[in-house]
Amino acid sequence: MNDQTPLSQNPPAGHTTTFSPPAVDASPSAHPRNFGSDNWAGAHPEVITAIIEANVGHTPGYGGDPWTARLGEVMKGHFGPSAQAFPVFNGTGANVLALQSALPRWAAVITAASAHINYDETGAPEKVGGLKIIGAATPDGKLTPEIIYNAVLGRGNEHNAQPLAVSISQSTEWGTTYTAEEIRAIADTAHGLDMILHVDGSRLGNAAAYLDTSLGALTTDVGVDIISLGGTKNGLLGAEAIVVLNPEIGQGMKFLRKMNLQLSSKMRFLSAQLNALYGGDLWRTSANHANTMATRLADGLAEATATGRAPDISIVAKTESNVVFVHMLDEVAARARQSFAFANWPMAKNVVRLMCAFDTTAEDVDALIAAIVEA
Ligand SMILES: Cc1ncc(COP(=O)(O)O)c(C=O)c1O
Repeated sequence: MNDQTPLSQNPPAGHTTTFSPPAVDASPSAHPRNFGSDNWAGAHPEVITAIIEANVGHTPGYGGDPWTARLGEVMKGHFGPSAQAFPVFNGTGANVLALQSALPRWAAVITAASAHINYDETGAPEKVGGLKIIGAATPDGKLTPEIIYNAVLGRGNEHNAQPLAVSISQSTEWGTTYTAEEIRAIADTAHGLDMILHVDGSRLGNAAAYLDTSLGALTTDVGVDIISLGGTKNGLLGAEAIVVLNPEIGQGMKFLRKMNLQLSSKMRFLSAQLNALYGGDLWRTSANHANTMATRLADGLAEATATGRAPDISIVAKTESNVVFVHMLDEVAARARQSFAFANWPMAKNVVRLMCAFDTTAEDVDALIAAIVEA
C-alpha cells in the first residue's frame, strides 16, 4: 500500500461541473489585422481548402500517405533530385532537428547573434539538440566569410566545442536578405573549414520573392547543405519542413524526428499545407505581397520623416523582406499602439518591429503610417 489517494471516477462531494469558459468572439472586427508578426495572421484560404480536401477517408499515418509522397516530388522540383523533405510542426523544431541530424554531439554552430537559434529558441538547440551555439555580432543580422573566420576558435582543442556548422537565416531577423553570391561565399568558407551550411529558411520565400529568384538559386545552387523551410509565416496553419540537400548528411533524420517529438501521426495534413504553398506559386505571391506592404510602409514613413510630419522617427534597417524596423521613442510607440499592435525589438533600444503578412492590406499600412504620424 502507498499513501496515494485512491482513484475515483466520481467527483468529490461539493465538486461542481457548471463552470462555463468564456465564449470566443470570432467576429472579424474583434481581430483586426496588426503588425505584431506574420504569425499573427490566420491561414490562407487556399491552405484551409487543401486541409479540407485532405480530410477524406483513411490513409497511412506517419508519412505513408499520398500527400507526403507528392510533397517529396514538389520539393525535388524546387531543390533538385537529391532533396529529401521531412515535414515537422514548427520552426524551432525544424532548426534543432536539422542541426542535430547533421552534427556530432561535440559540435558548435556559428550564427549571427540575432539569429533565432541563438536568441529566440530558449536554448533549445543547446538543451534539446545538445549543440553549442556561437552567436557572432553582425551589423545587420548577416554573417560574412570574415565574421565566420573570426568565430572559428578552438579547432582540435578538447576543451572547446568544435565549430562544424554555419547557420544563416534567410531572410534575417533584421529583415535583410542574402544574395545568392553572398551565400555562395559563405558556403565556400564553411566547406573550406569542414563545416556544413544550414539555412533557417523560415522566410526563405520572402527572400526569393524580394530577389526575384527561385528557392533553389538561393540554396541548392550555391552550396547549402540543409534547410529549415518555413510555411507558417507565409500563410500555413502550422507546418514547416526540413529539406536535406547534401546526401551525405541527415541519415538519422527518420529516427531523430520522432525522438524530437516532431513526427506527425496524421502527416497528410502537414504535407497538404506545404503542397498548397509550394506546389504552385502561392509561396511567391503571398511573400511578394507581404514584402510589397513592408516597402510601402517603409517608403511612407521615410516620406513622412522627410517632409517633417514625423521628424522623430527613423528606419534603422534595410527593408528587404516583410518587416520594417523603426527607431521611435517609447511615448510615440505607446500612442501609435492605441491604433495598432506591434513589437518592441529587444536587440536595439527604442526600436520597434513592424511586420507585414500575406493578408496585410494597403489600407492597413496607410492607417499605420497615419497613426505613427499622429503619435
Ligand atoms: C527566423 C525564424 N526562425 C525560426 C522561427 C521559429 O518558428 P516557430 O515559432 O514555429 O518555432 C522563427 C519564428 O519566429 C523565426 O522568425
